[in-house]
Amino acid sequence: MVDVPVLAVEGVQKSYGGVVVLHPTSFSVAAGHVTALAGENGAGKSTVLKIISGQVRPDQGLVSVNGVPLTSSDPKSARRLGVAIVPQELAPYPDLTVYENIFVGREIHTRLGLLDRGAMIKQAREMLEVFELDIDPRWPMSRLSVALTQIVEIAKATTWGAKVLLLDEPTSAIPDHEVGRLYDVIRHLREQGVAMIYTTHRMAEIQELADSVIVLRDGELVFESGIEDASEGTIVHAMVGRDMDALFPEQAMSTGPVRLQVKDLQLGRTCPCVCMEVKQGEILGIGGLVGAGRTEIMEAMYGVRRSYSGTILLDGTPVRRNHADSSIRAGFSFVPEDRKGAGLVLERSVLDNGSLPHLRAFTIAGWIRTFARRAAVDKATKSVNLKSRGLNQLVGTLSGGNQQKVVVARWLTQDGRVLLLDEPTRGVDVGARGEIYTIIRDLAASGISVVFISSDMTELIGLSHRVLVARAGEIVGELDREALDRPDAQEQIFRLASGQTLDADEAQAS
Ligand SMILES: Nc1ncnc2c1ncn2[C@@H]1O[C@H](COP(=O)(O)OP(=O)(O)OP(=O)(O)O)[C@@H](O)[C@H]1O
Ligand SMILES: [Mg+2]
Repeated sequence: MVDVPVLAVEGVQKSYGGVVVLHPTSFSVAAGHVTALAGENGAGKSTVLKIISGQVRPDQGLVSVNGVPLTSSDPKSARRLGVAIVPQELAPYPDLTVYENIFVGREIHTRLGLLDRGAMIKQAREMLEVFELDIDPRWPMSRLSVALTQIVEIAKATTWGAKVLLLDEPTSAIPDHEVGRLYDVIRHLREQGVAMIYTTHRMAEIQELADSVIVLRDGELVFESGIEDASEGTIVHAMVGRDMDALFPEQAMSTGPVRLQVKDLQLGRTCPCVCMEVKQGEILGIGGLVGAGRTEIMEAMYGVRRSYSGTILLDGTPVRRNHADSSIRAGFSFVPEDRKGAGLVLERSVLDNGSLPHLRAFTIAGWIRTFARRAAVDKATKSVNLKSRGLNQLVGTLSGGNQQKVVVARWLTQDGRVLLLDEPTRGVDVGARGEIYTIIRDLAASGISVVFISSDMTELIGLSHRVLVARAGEIVGELDREALDRPDAQEQIFRLASGQTLDADEAQAS
């Protein structure tokens, strides 16, 4: 294929309030070419993609598609040039249906000018079929998990014939083993000559998908290369500016007596029973596919989702079911999957957000102990390596990964007995991931029981003492540390998660 640059980015630059977040940057992407855009949280990746898609106006520089410049910075003009984006921060309309979300802004009309719902539903169904997902386009969007929402966004952006497709962490919420469908779609678009830019914090994805890589560090393009000359180590080195230590800290094997017991927890009258036990100081991972019900189980354990029956015991004492307040008092903390749902208040500062759930701890007779609060939040945000302009920066203006770090930093300022985490490192860069793993290990070593949901196999296998696998709302398997250390651990988890049994000949062999 001839290398025709479809997309050209020339000298684009951006500052906010006098702080440069993107130095003059130039690169181009050819037809049928996938460029991975790597960099730590806050490096400027989303800023570049927002400039190309017309959502952010650059202070200087030019973006053009097939030689035609983007003259005004607005999404419509970019779209007219053929630019589509799957944004990092999904913003679906939860009250509209799935098909209405897909067709928002480009509704299909009948000849009489009425909305042609039938046609839209039919087309939406075809778009979703590409991803082999059992979603009815007439469902309300609010019924979908973060992962399914992400897939709907991808379907929406990939099916209208764009020439340039920008994917800003499209797979952050999708489990590793389901990402394959997206890969197929991307390969198909590559054959059709679409130029693509892909950002991700999963290094394996870059090797799998990209033809070339560019790396941003502190808003500067520091590395550009074909994929054949860019090993994972090289890319990470370019991102963080040094060699990385081992991602997973040494594991303390000694765990204490049973701390948390979940007995016959049923989410609904006809739902399967969920049972689990977690020891003091144990890190229990939960794996599974999209829609396996992991989040629902965790929410029910914490009490923010109503369960139908069951018993939850903490150090032998029953905890009131369906009462998050009681759980918190008993020593539970919960970090939910969805940042915005997690109660991040985007128009408030890092300081406010970082201390919100524990405000009581910093209050004496109605007065907030300003100094103690500042010190605690400062320490917590430093330990997750938060990149901000200080504790007064508004959370809404942090990069996506840094918002996630604020969510994680919150529970570092308190102590408890059980820590529940739903996808704690979603969208977090490799460097900070390592920091978060160390913190989780340290908390566990201090006796806290940790239960975490993850779609990242490496993380599940690297961090857990034990892994449970969920399918259709049920725990269908368990791997202890010994099983996790075997080379086929990933395969085993996948088999359990997808309900596949061993191949006949393999079964014979074993
Ligand atoms: N509206 C804004 N006002 C002020 N600063 C902003 C604004 N938008 C982005 N920034 C800053 O620009 C920098 C780059 O952010 P950007 O979102 O491009 O990072 P990123 O590389 O996409 O990171 P991540 O991996 O976390 O998504 C960050 O320091 C961020 O705080
Ligand atoms: Mg980003």
